[in-house]
Amino acid sequence: MSVKVAVVGATGKLGRLVAGIVTEHPEFELVAALGSSSELSEMLAADVVVDVTVPGVSQKVVEYALTNGRNVLVGTSGWSAERITGLKRLLGDEPSNGVVVIPNFSLGSVLATSFATMAARFYDSIEIVEAHAARKVDSPSGTAVRTAELMAAARATRGPVAAPHTDQRARGQQVASIPVHSLRLAGVVAKQDVIFGGTGEVLTLTHETISPSSYTQGILVALRAASTARGVTVGLESLIDLGLPGEPAPTAAPGAAPSEPAAAPENVSGQAATATSVTP
Ligand SMILES: NC(=O)c1ccc[n+]([C@@H]2O[C@H](COP(=O)([O-])OP(=O)(O)OC[C@H]3O[C@@H](n4cnc5c(N)ncnc54)[C@H](OP(=O)(O)O)[C@@H]3O)[C@@H](O)[C@H]2O)c1
Repeated sequence: MSVKVAVVGATGKLGRLVAGIVTEHPEFELVAALGSSSELSEMLAADVVVDVTVPGVSQKVVEYALTNGRNVLVGTSGWSAERITGLKRLLGDEPSNGVVVIPNFSLGSVLATSFATMAARFYDSIEIVEAHAARKVDSPSGTAVRTAELMAAARATRGPVAAPHTDQRARGQQVASIPVHSLRLAGVVAKQDVIFGGTGEVLTLTHETISPSSYTQGILVALRAASTARGVTVGLESLIDLGLPGEPAPTAAPGAAPSEPAAAPENVSGQAATATSVTP
């Protein structure tokens, strides 16, 4: 039996991609495609609701779906640690449904964030430069916020990074003490550099999204996870085994069925925790 899916934001770029993936895979059935003029109740025909709207609307959509017992996949930006804590509270201690929040569906981006997290405890001087299309309404990007928060958590015993002159606006916005610089440019899809300054060396980890097709595999993995989710799961890295040192043996590769989702770490957001420009 196929899983019934509703896509909220189905007229948008990401929503069209998700709707196409749902339609192409017989394990899913697209039963509702909602836009800004739809009634939220239209999503209730589905088992799984995918929210790919705008940051100012996403919370209402997700809470409506969860309150009505649906499982949810969130791809929208703007899911701060605080908002995610609110979802945990909403679902309670013994949840009968769940939500999967994915700040970035791209495998390469998730790997880059994991590599940055590994490197973070070896450097005290770290900054992020992220670039997206000019139409992106929130900044810093959800991926930059999550990268900064994960790096800060990994180097917690070393304390904040050594970022000088952060009182000057041109030094970027500090996220978990790490300066983040956001570029909004025509012609760019998405790019992130995490730059580590060391003694006599600079390490730069770069990920660039060339095409939204990079999200396809991650969306499929996340859809499968969302259809059986209980509680709150954050990040594609929670659904696939990256095989990092000290991690459990591989149980799922991208495109394969996900392993048991990891719990969302405290104080680490799903998406932009500090969006400075969010369209209501
Ligand atoms: N997780 C990831 O990997 C990833 C990748 C890319 C983008 N994103 C994020 O995903 C979100 C969507 O991106 P996009 O590029 O697809 O944006 P988009 O093209 O602007 O689409 C936005 C969608 O939201 C809908 N919408 C707006 N207000 C609504 C409301 N009140 N109720 C229901 N639907 C409403 C729009 O419907 P109308 O057409 O009717 O206005 C449209 O379908 C953004 O937050 C973006 O940052 C995440």
